[in-house]
Amino acid sequence: MHIPEALPYFSRAPLEAECLGHIGLGKGVSMLAPRRAGKTSFVENELIPAAENHGYDIIYVDVGKREKSPELAIVETLEAFNGKSAFKVTSAKIEGSRGAGLGLARRSLGSAPAATIDLVARLSRAFDRIRPTANVLFVIDEFQALANCTEPGFVAALRTHIQRLQRLKFFFTGSSRRELSNMLSTQGAPFLGMTMPVPLPELDRSFVEDRCTLFHERTGRTIDIDAMEAVFKRLVLVPEYLNQALGLMMVRGIYDPAAGYAAWKDAILEQGEGSKLWSTLSELDQKIILLLNHAPATPMFAKSTLDWLGNCLPGENITTTRIQTALQRLVRNGVLEQAQARGGYEVSHDELQVFVSHLKKPKLPALPARRR
Ligand SMILES: Nc1ncnc2c1ncn2[C@@H]1O[C@H](COP(=O)(O)OP(=O)(O)O)[C@@H](O)[C@H]1O
Ligand SMILES: [Mg+2]
Repeated sequence: MHIPEALPYFSRAPLEAECLGHIGLGKGVSMLAPRRAGKTSFVENELIPAAENHGYDIIYVDVGKREKSPELAIVETLEAFNGKSAFKVTSAKIEGSRGAGLGLARRSLGSAPAATIDLVARLSRAFDRIRPTANVLFVIDEFQALANCTEPGFVAALRTHIQRLQRLKFFFTGSSRRELSNMLSTQGAPFLGMTMPVPLPELDRSFVEDRCTLFHERTGRTIDIDAMEAVFKRLVLVPEYLNQALGLMMVRGIYDPAAGYAAWKDAILEQGEGSKLWSTLSELDQKIILLLNHAPATPMFAKSTLDWLGNCLPGENITTTRIQTALQRLVRNGVLEQAQARGGYEVSHDELQVFVSHLKKPKLPALPARRR
């Protein structure tokens, strides 16, 4: 059974007006909000259509998608925007002569060698070809992905081009506070002072009312708004989860919100992404995640932590090296994130986090003391 969630977008009209106001007056806007808060939905359903109505041309890149490097995604989108896809990279960069050796040729060499032309040069070319006849809104979703950019000079070049193009405004979203502030607000950040931060407000009772109205339209049944609002709070105000719970209620004919919540919880535990991921993890990984979920920022190499893990996994030799390796792997795989300014770790994979927090809490030995 799958979890339905296809419920329509709920408008955030005041936010759209606020963003367009700032974009009209300044250079750019940044929006920081946790994953799943609704940034992409807002950008795609509301911001971009509204900006188009106001006469903006749109360049939109979602660099959160993992198939490509963020740099490549940006360059390719800019190249496509120019409408001159006749330019294709056909040969390797000629060492030491960046300008002359671009290796670009008109559409032709289909099976040419793979492109190795550097992305900074491609970025410059793409920007140079932009001659805006209208205002342009450059939207980069999950902008913080560029914080880990490996292409030397790319971010600085991006900033320079954005600054230089008079009619170009931008809108960046981000999910990771630490990475985004490294791009936008800490000392020496490449985009320091260039954006007006606009928060994404949490959806509130009006969203719940809207969903209950939809529910009524589709099923002819009325559900209690207060009870549904209580469910939304239990779902930590994540709109997607409320959509899923309501979808399940519609499909299964559940009209009691508390029962709807229970059904959602079962479904998540049985076949959500988190549960799939959980089943692929080693026992040590699972225990580390459980521990960090109950006590984020636990000092992972303290003796008390080692003892705790040793108790959980009898017969296993728990060493700091093993923990270190596991932590590094889990961070690399997007399961954990280093907690901000605390030196600890927290669960950053949100499906997994939901899954773990809904697991029946096992009888845990005393947790190690938190570092102050
Ligand atoms: N305004 C909204 N109205 C209805 N559903 C929403 C809204 N915002 C978010 N959602 C739901 O939450 C899901 C995740 O939102 P998304 O925009 O992808 O979050 P983010 O980009 O912040 O990670 C969407 O697929 C949608 O189901
Ligand atoms: Mg998104």
